[in-house]
Amino acid sequence: MSQIIIKLWQQHDVERCTHVAKQASAEKAWSFAEYDESYKAGHSGLIAYDGEQVIGCLVAQSLFETADLLDIQVLPEYQGKGVAMLLLQALKQACKETSVENIMLEVRSSNARAIGFYMKSGFISIHTRKNYYAARDSLPPEDAVIMQCSI
Ligand SMILES: CC(C)(COP(=O)(O)OP(=O)(O)OC[C@H]1O[C@@H](n2cnc3c(N)ncnc32)[C@H](O)[C@@H]1OP(=O)(O)O)[C@@H](O)C(=O)NCCC(=O)NCCS
Repeated sequence: MSQIIIKLWQQHDVERCTHVAKQASAEKAWSFAEYDESYKAGHSGLIAYDGEQVIGCLVAQSLFETADLLDIQVLPEYQGKGVAMLLLQALKQACKETSVENIMLEVRSSNARAIGFYMKSGFISIHTRKNYYAARDSLPPEDAVIMQCSI
C-alpha cells in the first residue's frame, strides 16, 4: 500500500463509491442512485485513493453545529489498515474548520466491526432505535444504534 491520499469527491467518484460499497457491504450497500442523489444534494464526500484506485469513501451532511456521517466504506482488502481512520480524521478536520461541534451517525446493531471502529474513534452510543432498518430483500428488520462524537 503506497501513501493514501484523501480528496473531496467529484461526479466521477460516484461510480467508484458504488463499487467500493458493493465489495464492502454487499446487499446493504448504497446503490449508484443513492450515491448520485447524495452527491447532487451537495453532501460532503471524502475519497481515499491508493494511487489511481479508490479504496474507501465517506459521505456526510452538515447542518448547523451537527454533521451526520451517512456512509463509510473501505474495500475489504484494505480494511484493518487505518483507511477509515484517515477518512474520519479528514472529516473531523473539516468540521473543526467550520462551526460543526458534533458528528452523529446510525449503525446496524449487528455491525460489530463498524461499532468497534466508531468507539475507537471517539464515538459513544447514545440511543437505540428499534427496528429502524426496515426488512429488505433477504434482510430482517434491525435496530439502529445512534452514536455521537464531540469534535
Ligand atoms: C467499518 C469500516 C469502515 C472500518 O474500516 P477500516 O479501514 O477497516 O478501519 P481502520 O483500519 O481505520 O480501523 C481503525 C480502528 O477501528 C477498530 N476496528 C477496525 N476493524 C475492527 C474490527 N473488525 N473489530 C473491532 N474493531 C475494529 C480498531 O480499533 C482499529 O484500530 P486498530 O487498527 O489500531 O486496532 C470497514 O470495516 C468497512 O468498510 N466495513 C463495511 C462497511 C460498513 O459497515 N460501514 C459502516 C456503515 S455504518
